[in-house]
Amino acid sequence: MEDMIKTLPMHTCSWLKGKMTMYKYQDFWVIKHLLEGGIRAQQNFKAEPSDVFLCSAPKTGTTWLKSLAFAIATREKFDESTTPLLTKLVHECVPFLERSEVEEHENNRKKLSLPLMATHLPYASLPESVLSSNCKIVYIYRNIKDVIVSQYHFMREALKLPMEDAPFEEAFEEFYQGVSGYGPYWDHVLGYWKASLERPDKILLLKYEDLKSEPKNNVKKLADFIGYPFSADEEKAGVVDNIIRFCGFENMSNLEVNKTGKPNGGMLENRLYYRKAKDGDWKNYFTDEMKEKIEKLTDEKFSETGLVL
Ligand code: A3P
Repeated sequence: MEDMIKTLPMHTCSWLKGKMTMYKYQDFWVIKHLLEGGIRAQQNFKAEPSDVFLCSAPKTGTTWLKSLAFAIATREKFDESTTPLLTKLVHECVPFLERSEVEEHENNRKKLSLPLMATHLPYASLPESVLSSNCKIVYIYRNIKDVIVSQYHFMREALKLPMEDAPFEEAFEEFYQGVSGYGPYWDHVLGYWKASLERPDKILLLKYEDLKSEPKNNVKKLADFIGYPFSADEEKAGVVDNIIRFCGFENMSNLEVNKTGKPNGGMLENRLYYRKAKDGDWKNYFTDEMKEKIEKLTDEKFSETGLVL
């Protein structure tokens, strides 16, 4: 694998002071250890028809979607005082396909009979068995301008670079050129969108902004789709509202584990997954020119789709 990776196109991110290099593999950009994990998964992962994949490009609401799906799927096993979400980052609760510890996570998942798995891989690069087993896929996407800002802060903070050392204009330009985690972002969204038209019963698309503006409808839709529908009694008893509140940004970002924890002694602090969660934060960073430029390109790429990013 090492030799193959050496032959791939490479890009060192100038706005991150050269501290991060991405490789282009199967038409998407990714850092080395996630690429290795992705290839390993493509070679070895055996999906079950009952698996449910939570898919996303980075910074589009992955953490939120995972929390909601986990809380929905485990609501008979745990309540708000016993859920593992109180003591573990959600990325430790729902296994991430590209991670090296995926096997350990897989064992935990089996113990809980949890069907959930997560990945950032583009649709075209999912392990073959995910498609052939016909398992369900939920895909979340988000306004591109907020994704750019979210990714900018996440990577900058992960590498401990202050804003003055990480020029936003350069980060924007790289993203615009398609060089972003698992990007080009447009292609990532289009891949899942096309697949959802071909297999609507197996692929559910959710938009971050819709989840925010209409949480109840969308959370019920999510629960139905992943096979854990709420009963009328549960709804009356406020179970849906409680899950929405518990998994909401306000509650999750204030849990001690998410304020101070580090996943499994890893590099990234849990708090990095919870920043502001504000729609339209891009307005604090974009010039008029950047806004026009990205909107023009996005309109071109999505003109036929009816998708609004
Ligand atoms: P911001 O950087 O705009 O604040 P991902 O989970 O895909 O990495 O995306 C991270 C983004 O989702 C961050 O956006 C983060 O603050 C936001 N987020 C995390 N948890 C959330 C929640 N419970 N509700 C809404 N947004 C959430």
